Amino acid sequence: MSKRLKELHEEITQTLNGVVESPRREAELMLMAYLGKDQLYFITHQDEMIDENSPELLEWIEKRSCNVPLEYLTNRVSFYSREFYIDEGALIPRPETEHLIDEVLACTAADEAITVVEVGVGSGIISIMLALHLPNARFIAVDISPRALAVARRNIELFGLSDRIELREGDLLSCVSEKIDLLVSNPPYIAQDAPLESNLSYEPQNALFGGEIGDEIIRRLMDEVYVRHIPLFVCEMGYDQRIKVQEYLKPFSVQSLEFYKDLASFDRGFVLKAIHE
Ligand SMILES: C[S@@+](CC[C@H](N)C(=O)[O-])C[C@H]1O[C@@H](n2cnc3c(N)ncnc32)[C@H](O)[C@@H]1O
Repeated sequence: MSKRLKELHEEITQTLNGVVESPRREAELMLMAYLGKDQLYFITHQDEMIDENSPELLEWIEKRSCNVPLEYLTNRVSFYSREFYIDEGALIPRPETEHLIDEVLACTAADEAITVVEVGVGSGIISIMLALHLPNARFIAVDISPRALAVARRNIELFGLSDRIELREGDLLSCVSEKIDLLVSNPPYIAQDAPLESNLSYEPQNALFGGEIGDEIIRRLMDEVYVRHIPLFVCEMGYDQRIKVQEYLKPFSVQSLEFYKDLASFDRGFVLKAIHE
């Protein structure tokens, strides 16, 4: 049976009510993805007749009611106002990671011919957005997960950046021998036993957990900065990891260490300019 788009929108909103935080918006996003259309189309075609028994749509509604993230159902995610492909192989990009992009852009000149290495590329959003803003930079993007690399590869191809972003599989910088001008990372930084919201259970666990304490990978990356003489490191971190980062860096020579906050005013990352004697 068919229903008007606006009626179906209302019906899905009611089904998701009490299950997800923004049922109306999610119902809208779901219908837009189902129709393969944008918001303008959605707004201007409210009376279009839609098959309410489409197996795909019914499956999405059922799975979303069980907390499966909408992005994994629609294979669409928005980041920094651009649309990316996503599936269960990679972490769903978070809006707070947009600050990391801004921090990198604030401390690099747009025309610099630098080598940027990203550790933990996931879906590719960071390297892709930086490559779009830094046209002369070359990127090496590493991940330990082949499934995440497959998602990144798909997005890099979608954006036509395959000749500028090289993907490598490995543990941190083990597969990078080149001189690095800038290291960027949004590493896993949650403690192993931290209580998690149920929707996080659908995301790759090695994208979330940084070790027993949580900051183990961040510490390993800070070690790499000094072993590999990397001048600049921009890294996302947990809201409660600022003091640990400051303490860890005490024995090292630092030109500057600045922390940045997310929109909720939580500490969310840092920019380390290192001194190498
Ligand atoms: C928090 S996700 C970040 C993904 C993406 N950059 C983003 O910001 O949405 C962390 C990523 O690091 C990868 N990772 C975890 N441990 C790693 C390691 N030892 N070496 C390289 N990558 C690792 C995970 O597979 C995951 O894709």
